[in-house]
Amino acid sequence: MRRLGILTGGGDCPGINAVIRAVTKSALYRYNIEMIGFNNGFKGLVENEAWLISEAAASGILHRGGTILGTTNRDNPFAMRVTGPGGEPEYEDRSGEALRHIEEWNLDGLIVVGGDGSLTLAHRFAEMGLPVMGIPKTIDNDLGATEVTFGFDTAATTATEAIDRLHTTAESHHRIMVLEVMGRNAGWIALQAGMAGGADVVLIPELPFNYEGIIDKVIQRRSRGKKFSIVVAAEGSFPEGGAPVYQFSASGGQKRLGGIGQLVSEELERRTGLESRATVLGHLQRGGSPTPFDRVLATRFGVTAVELAVAGRWNEMVCLRAGSIRGAPLAEAIAEIKRINPDSEQLKAASAVGISFGW
Ligand code: F6P
Repeated sequence: MRRLGILTGGGDCPGINAVIRAVTKSALYRYNIEMIGFNNGFKGLVENEAWLISEAAASGILHRGGTILGTTNRDNPFAMRVTGPGGEPEYEDRSGEALRHIEEWNLDGLIVVGGDGSLTLAHRFAEMGLPVMGIPKTIDNDLGATEVTFGFDTAATTATEAIDRLHTTAESHHRIMVLEVMGRNAGWIALQAGMAGGADVVLIPELPFNYEGIIDKVIQRRSRGKKFSIVVAAEGSFPEGGAPVYQFSASGGQKRLGGIGQLVSEELERRTGLESRATVLGHLQRGGSPTPFDRVLATRFGVTAVELAVAGRWNEMVCLRAGSIRGAPLAEAIAEIKRINPDSEQLKAASAVGISFGW
């Protein structure tokens, strides 16, 4: 084996550069394998925008957020958006070009650092015969097969710090403070940060809430002399009988989760007469330096990905299970998103210390 490709797809997260560094250095030092990086996820593979990642390029990036390769969460090689003759969007299958570029670069395989979207595309290429290795990346922590994805710990740490800050101002003003966090249709960031930050209410997509449940908690706290409350709402949470809230991009088309925090805040103020404010943490959760946990996890993932590739264990994804890094079939990782089990020990521990889930 002489050369491998690598791309980073989907939403970025802290720790991607740590993976690129680990893959490149361990490939060079242990096996004398060169790494070719494709820019901007699968778009770079289709458009053949690639470069040799030198040891120097992989150096000094461990602590840096983002990705030196760039990324996109829009481009699908099986349906690339092009502009039709009348200016309307059309979609073309350009997967053949992507495969041709792998051959032109003489690559023995491709490492895809991605979340469920990019790894689903990787799996499609694997089914077409491309040797593919996945590395799980997402702040949402919603990939199957692995107990945790890198990026999640940093996002949860940022959200915890935000809760700490909201606590002091909430207490001064005797307000309800609602913090909306990311996570798509899984409540991992909300639960982790809510527990770490001592939130009073945590709303997660796995357990639709009702307003009376939240209000009971707020009133109960007031009767104990606590005149403020902290509510953490996962962006995908929604009330019983309701649906997740979406926003649409200004240019149209793109639909993304967001807005539940403001709705909850307004509804709580309307129903209780207590002052309430909403904060949306947004992309602050995706930016900045990775935590030590994420740097080490990303490094372990990167090193094992190369080891498995060298052993010919293609069409797998590296994962963390019971403290060790190992490979699992890519198909298992993307079969369904990993969500919080309402019967889990973690959720029960949160309830045991008084966190309300809004019911
Ligand atoms: O999947 C990561 C994530 O940050 C989600 O938590 C969030 O819903 C989404 O990406 C936001 O995407 P974008 O960066 O396109 O707004």
